[in-house]
Amino acid sequence: MAQYQASARAHTNIALIKYWGKKDQQLILPMNGSLSLTLDKFYTDTSVSYDKNLTQDEFYLNGAQKEDPKVMHFMDIVRQNTGFDSHAVIKSTNHVPTAAGLASSASAYAALALAATAAANKKFDRQKLSRIARRGSGSATRSIFGGFAEWLEGTDDQSSYAQPLEYENDWDIRMIAIVIDDQPKKVSSRQGMQTVVATSPFYSEWIKSAKTDLKNIKTALASQDFKHFGEIAESNALKMHALNLSAQPHFNYFAPASIIAMNIIEEIRELGYPCYYTMDAGPNVKVICKNADLSVILRQLQNHFPADHLLVAAPGPGAQLLD
Ligand code: PMV
Repeated sequence: MAQYQASARAHTNIALIKYWGKKDQQLILPMNGSLSLTLDKFYTDTSVSYDKNLTQDEFYLNGAQKEDPKVMHFMDIVRQNTGFDSHAVIKSTNHVPTAAGLASSASAYAALALAATAAANKKFDRQKLSRIARRGSGSATRSIFGGFAEWLEGTDDQSSYAQPLEYENDWDIRMIAIVIDDQPKKVSSRQGMQTVVATSPFYSEWIKSAKTDLKNIKTALASQDFKHFGEIAESNALKMHALNLSAQPHFNYFAPASIIAMNIIEEIRELGYPCYYTMDAGPNVKVICKNADLSVILRQLQNHFPADHLLVAAPGPGAQLLD
């Protein structure tokens, strides 16, 4: 009898040019293209086993059964794409410390897209996998690929997918996640995006500016200009957070310590060590730097934050099947 079972691993990513707003809620088409770095330390392992006797999907996260309508909806999208009708038992383990404040939805839906299509004996190319992952969570579109990836905004389901960006550089880039708070976020990314698109008076300027940032950060990557690269990423993150401050009702993801962390990074930079920060839909601050400067920057940060609140990651691989 044929085996309808597969397991996959995908790593999470940190956006350096942010996705913050949808032009199509159903298809998850973004308002602007984005760019990220996939990270080695944080990943999700997922196994999918189809069983024709099941009448609905069963989902287990870190060993506990969960009712998750988003996962069920996503499995319906997978079934539409594979033409394989059965329901499945899905088992996911997150190796993304919830405390890290890194979106586990990126690694989760990238791993599920690969495992669920492979278990249906479909070998889709990475572009198609990226399009399927997109339907689970926007940031998952990029986690199909390793290293730097760009999500092309597209105009429809076919044209909105990520692609890898392969640049030669000797930066040996690292990301330090400064863990500030591990509580669930007050405003989900889905809610936050909807509010800013509908109400921020700056939204149309954001789109223009994010498009310019995307173009310029790719030039900085191609010309190995780390300073320019970091400055664009930092400024892009701050513009995203400015949208939240200008929305109605306004909201923000800053904790007092997030602001302190940003100021400390600016001080370390003034000492001559290039490092730049970014933040997503939560209070934790992520710092990008070169490996050559990592130990000095970590030592500086340890003057202000406990060592076990500083998590270091390097570039990670794309989604892959597990034996
Ligand atoms: O993929 P979502 O729906 O969790 O949204 C992610 C949004 C940000 O992390 C803030 C930005 C991004 O591009 O990943």
